[in-house]
Amino acid sequence: MTIKRQALVTGANKGIGLAIAKGLAEAGFFVWIGARDSSRGEQAVAQLRDDGLDASLLELDVADEDSVYRAAAMLSEQVAALDVLINNAGIAIDMSKAPSEVRMQDMKAVYEVNLFGPVRVTQAFLPLLKKADQGRIVMMSSGVGSLALITDPTSIYSTVNFLDYTSSKVALNAVTVSFAKELEPLGIKVNAVEPGHVRTDLNGNSGVLTPEEGAATALKMALLGSDGPTGGFFGSHGRQPW
Ligand SMILES: NC(=O)c1ccc[n+]([C@@H]2O[C@H](COP(=O)([O-])OP(=O)(O)OC[C@H]3O[C@@H](n4cnc5c(N)ncnc54)[C@H](OP(=O)(O)O)[C@@H]3O)[C@@H](O)[C@H]2O)c1
Repeated sequence: MTIKRQALVTGANKGIGLAIAKGLAEAGFFVWIGARDSSRGEQAVAQLRDDGLDASLLELDVADEDSVYRAAAMLSEQVAALDVLINNAGIAIDMSKAPSEVRMQDMKAVYEVNLFGPVRVTQAFLPLLKKADQGRIVMMSSGVGSLALITDPTSIYSTVNFLDYTSSKVALNAVTVSFAKELEPLGIKVNAVEPGHVRTDLNGNSGVLTPEEGAATALKMALLGSDGPTGGFFGSHGRQPW
């Protein structure tokens, strides 16, 4: 009997996360649907199973330390190793506010999910990732996480100005580089990706791409061979400027 490779996707009950989970399951992984709400998570699991795919729920709120470490302990009882971790969960609170109007409590809440969440989850699941032959970590960043693009007047990303969301993704890119440096000697690759402008609840379904199209770069970086890059930032057109 072959033991399937194991993947965990946070925020996988809908949107881009669900599309990544489906893509990984189709690529032959057993997928753990990370979801903060068990009934929403179970619905996503049922959707994948209806398609004949292997998935289970892992209840996990990335903003809650106890929840994350409880989930890591539970997973370590179920699997010998974790091959792929996709830090996908993310929020935006109010993108209509000017930087001078953003409330500190909202900024902290955004950082708790978009920045501290991936750090917390990566640290908690690292012991299991280290047991895999070729661990892969993907950080779901954003085009607005690129300082080069948000300051380039020819880029579409220079037209938006989200204080909390943007800075959380810029910092997430730096976090990606830090983990990549530490984990490279162990063969674990860590890359940040941007999905493009995707139609999901995050942006009131105003995006132009489908969640499946938005999932493509994350899937590519999750499935990297041993000759693939680490510590980079990638989109559908390849390497992105920081
Ligand atoms: N859509 C875009 O155009 C776009 C562009 C660039 C980057 N991104 C990034 O892509 C990622 C996915 O976003 P999306 O567009 O697919 O948005 P979405 O449809 O709103 O999905 C976000 C997911 O994150 C989950 N989540 C939120 N807070 C969480 C928490 N504390 N713990 C665990 N899960 C949590 C949500 O769960 P609930 O259902 O429980 O809320 C949901 O499953 C985010 O990191 C986002 O910043 C999106």
